[in-house]
This record gives sequence, C-alpha cells and structure tokens, in this order.
Amino acid sequence: MVRYNSELIDEIRAANNIVDVIGSAVKLKRSGANYFGLCPFHNEKTGSFCVNPDRQTYHCFGCDKGGNVISFVMDYENYSFPEAVKYLADRAGIILPEKEETAEEKEAASFRSRIMECLKQAAVFYYHRLYSPEGKHGLDYLKGRGLTDETIKSFGLGYSGKGFDQAVSYLRSKGFDDKVIQAAGLCNISEKHGMTDRFFNRVMFPIMDINSRVIGFGGRVMGEGEPKYLNSPETQVFDKSRNMYGLNIARRSRKPYRIVCEGYMDVISMHQAGFTEAVASLGTAFTSGHASLLRRYTKDVRLTYDSDGAGQKAAMRAIPICRSASLSTKVVHLDPYKDPDEFIKALGSDEFEKRVKDAENSFFFVLSYIERSFDMSDPGERTAFQNEAAGRLASIDDELERDNYISAVAAKYAIREDALRRAVASVPAEKTSVGIPDEKGISTQSQARKNKDDGAEKAQKLLITWMTDDKEIFDAVRQYISVEDFSEGMIREIAAMIYEGYEKGNMSTADIMTRFAMEDRSDEASAVINKKLYAVDTSADREKALTDLVIRVKKASLDRKRNADDGIDPLKKAKEEKQALTELKKIRIKI
Ligand code: UTP
Ligand code: MN
Repeated sequence: MVRYNSELIDEIRAANNIVDVIGSAVKLKRSGANYFGLCPFHNEKTGSFCVNPDRQTYHCFGCDKGGNVISFVMDYENYSFPEAVKYLADRAGIILPEKEETAEEKEAASFRSRIMECLKQAAVFYYHRLYSPEGKHGLDYLKGRGLTDETIKSFGLGYSGKGFDQAVSYLRSKGFDDKVIQAAGLCNISEKHGMTDRFFNRVMFPIMDINSRVIGFGGRVMGEGEPKYLNSPETQVFDKSRNMYGLNIARRSRKPYRIVCEGYMDVISMHQAGFTEAVASLGTAFTSGHASLLRRYTKDVRLTYDSDGAGQKAAMRAIPICRSASLSTKVVHLDPYKDPDEFIKALGSDEFEKRVKDAENSFFFVLSYIERSFDMSDPGERTAFQNEAAGRLASIDDELERDNYISAVAAKYAIREDALRRAVASVPAEKTSVGIPDEKGISTQSQARKNKDDGAEKAQKLLITWMTDDKEIFDAVRQYISVEDFSEGMIREIAAMIYEGYEKGNMSTADIMTRFAMEDRSDEASAVINKKLYAVDTSADREKALTDLVIRVKKASLDRKRNADDGIDPLKKAKEEKQALTELKKIRIKI
C-alpha cells in the first residue's frame, strides 16, 4: 500500500463533491439544505439516506451507514481505503506521486488486502491447474458441459488438484501467512492433518465482487458426490448476501432488466449464449441484500429459477423481497427443462430469449402458485381462493395499479369485476400486508443499537452534531465543556478533532471522517455526528435546548469523575464536586 500524506488526501477528498459522486450512483432529491435518496446499502422504500453538501458527508438514518466521499466509494465499490483514494484522484484528475513500495509498506498493507491478494493468487493457481496434465479431468468435464475456452477464461474457472495441501503450499511459497490463508477460507485445519486444502478434486468457480476481484470460490464435484458444490465460508471479504455471481459482468449490461437464477452453471451458460445480464445468488436464498444490490443497476428483475418444486418455492420467496426493494419482477417459465443451462442446451438462445420476453407478471405467478392448493371446482374452495386473491389485491398501494390488477384478475379467473372490487374494498386494513415480515438484520440491529444508546451518550452526540455545523455554537459550548467531558472512546476522539479543527481554523467534518474511513470505522463515527436534531426554530429555543444539553453532558462527566477510581482523596473530590455543581447552575448558553 502506498501511503499518501494527509494534505493530499484532503485535497482529493475536497476535489470530489460528494453530491456528484453519490448522485451518479443514487438518485438524490434536494430537501432543504440536504439531499435525500434511497439508501444503496439497505432495502428501503422511503429515502432515509441523507447527503449533506455543507459537511460533505452522508448518513443513512435507516441503517446507520455514513461517512465522507471516500468511505462511500469504499462501501459502494468494495474498495480498500487506498483504492478508494486512487479512484477519487483519477476522477478528479489529480496525479498521485509514484512511490516504490518498500518492504515496510508491504508489511503494513492491511490484512484485508492480503486476503484479497491471497484469493487472487489461489484463482491463478486453480486456473493453471486446469490446463495442466493433472487438470485434464476437470477441463474435459467443463468442455463436456459445452463451455468454450473463452468462457472458461472470462469466468476464470479452474481445477483444485488432487493433493492434500497443494494450494496451501503454493500460497505459502508465495509468501502468505497461514493466518491469511485461513482468513481467506482456503483451508481446513485439524489436529491430525494440520492445514490442508479446503478444495480438492473439484472444478473451481471463482466468485468475484462487482469490481471483478476474487472474494471466494465455489467448487463442483465432477460427476456425483456430496456436496455437489462446496463454497467458501463467509469471511471478512465474502458476504454471501451482499454479492451475486456474475454481477461484475452483468452490471455493465445495457438490458433494462437483470436475469436472476439459482446456479453458477446457469449464469455461465446464459452469458455464453449472450445473456450477459444474468446473475445468481450464491448458494443461499435470495436476500434483501441481493435486492438492494440489484436495485443499483435495474428496476426490473426476471427470475429464472429451476422449474422444480424447490425452484418455484424459491421464486415465491424472492418476489416479495424484490417488491419491498421497489424491483418489479417477472417469472420466466423454462418447462419442460429444469434450468436455464438445460434449456439453452436443448432449445438454443432464440427460444430462451422468447421465454424471457414472455415472462409472467409475478402477481399472476403468485396467484397460480396459490391456486394449485385449492380445488377450483368446489364453490367453497373457489371462494376461499378468491378471498385470498382479494387480500393480495388490497395490498397494492397504488390505486391505479390496484384497479388494473382487479380488472385483470377478474378476467383471468372469470370473477364478476364489481364483486371482486367490493371484496377488495372490504379487506380489513391489518390483513392487507401479505409481504414477508422484515428480515432479521438491519432494522432490528439498528433498533438494538438505538436502545443501547443511553441518555448520556445521546446528549453528547447531539452536542457534537450541533458543534460540527456551527462555529458560534462551538465557541459558546467551549466555555463550559472540554474534550475530557466527553466519554472515552469514539466520542472523545471525535470531540478532540473538532476542538483541534476549530482552534487551527481548518475544521472540516469530512476530513475528520477520513481518519475513520481509513480504519473502517466510518459508520460508527457517522452515527456520532449525525444525531437527529429536533427542529428548534427561534434562537431563544435554541439557547434553551443547548443549555440543557450542556448541563446534561457536564453532569454525566461529573458522575464519571466521582465514580472513577483515580486515587484522589475522596474528601477533596467531594469538595470539588460541590463547587462544580454550583457552577453547573450558572450555565447559560448565549448564541
Ligand atoms: P443446483 O443443484 O440446481 O445445481 O443448485 P446447478 O446449478 O443446476 O448445477 P449443475 O448444473 O448440476 O452443475 C443451484 C445452486 O445452488 C448452490 C450452487 O450455487 C448451485 O449453483 N448449491 C447447490 C450449493 O451451494 N451447494 C450444493 O451442494 C448444491
Ligand atoms: Mn444445472
């Protein structure tokens, strides 16, 4: 890692307006002094993602992600800090000084980038193996499945070899520590055998992030065997629910939709047949993380799940997840074939194209799926089905859309339209949401975090939020509150930087955030300086609110001092406290 000095980094940061950078990835709308949009890091329908042009920072009030333009690029592009800085320098036309990497700098390269480098070297190793005599079996297998050399190369497919520790010893010989190889998820460790390869005698599918960097692997047995696909475990760099197989290529497709399928081979077959808009979730069910990732590139998803029971059930699960990410969804029918791979082999790409074009609206797909569990020749069951349909129709928020669906459903199922309309109107409000309940994760997590935020810390964060925006407020607060009055840890660190920034006359929230971006702590830091401020309009109200805050922060600080085991004579301590409490009563903030 080449290290740049902090002035240069500040210059690069300042040369990239955060509104422009985020604006090219997220649709932003101005609202007052800020811009709002749909958060690209979690699934939401209302825009809680806020970009502040004055501070040059962003913060999501829904999932608590935040930081400056550098941390945004790190998160959005899955870049390390130096990679993000390089990207932004290029974007602004700033030429970075060339520096030779010294041995020391190499040593200092972050653990995460060592893991990424290790995975890349492993992919190279597996690829070469495939074309070595030992890999002939694997190459024959892939060729036998109709893959061309060009496809094999562009997906970087490989073969993992037959020995017990070929990959591990290769990676060691390339200078990777055992700790790195282990953290990359490339080995098994046992007392008996020590460190051995996780993957052997499998054809290897490297899994890449959106920037085509290897983050994990899937390995398929050749022929029968269990498990059919062995995948990398989740690691520091591999989050299964935030990456999709093939998206590094599919992100650049010009098609207005993306095809979502189940398997590695399906993606590869589709790409080879020209459907480079295809992606797959990675050996896991489709999650809201996948949906928000896709939502960056398209509004429209075509599901090509297997035509068996499991595949159809998976489609039923994916539809509401897409819907809550504002992705419209259609279902592609592949019958009589099992999956896109088999379909394309049997009928070719023109037929496949037609099926994609004729994909079924997901609302009707869901109804047909449900219909199968009713005996439609029985009037009672038929009514039950119709009521179920009415419930689902009632849950369509948009009135015109709901109206159109009512007509279409009435026509398709030969129901009298006015009767269906009345049935929909009489669905009780609490029954209208038939979507999936909120997944575990972001919302509950941030809820828990919020609950934990005890009152004292909340007051400190509020005070910091006020101070970052306004020098006058800082000047008024400083008379009573010093850096030591803030709780130790992140809050005090930030407070110290704010005090120093104002004193030196170069206070910049965005530059403060750089420090935390470097250490991958942006989100935490962003939560400190982005407490929601209550709308306080008149200056008298502001003075009162601030005075209250300052008193609360000071009191909490006194409490900490009293309870601290600092060896100060208790009598002296009590005296000092009494004095401080009298002072407390005199606090009046004037701004
Ligand atoms: P399938 O069993 O449908 O495999 O699993 P496939 O894609 O058709 O594979 P081929 O054509 O037999 O080679 C679909 C996907 O589920 C995951 C993989 O991502 C696979 O592509 N999977 C399946 C696993 O992760 N592990 C398994 O053991 C099986
Ligand atoms: Mn298959």
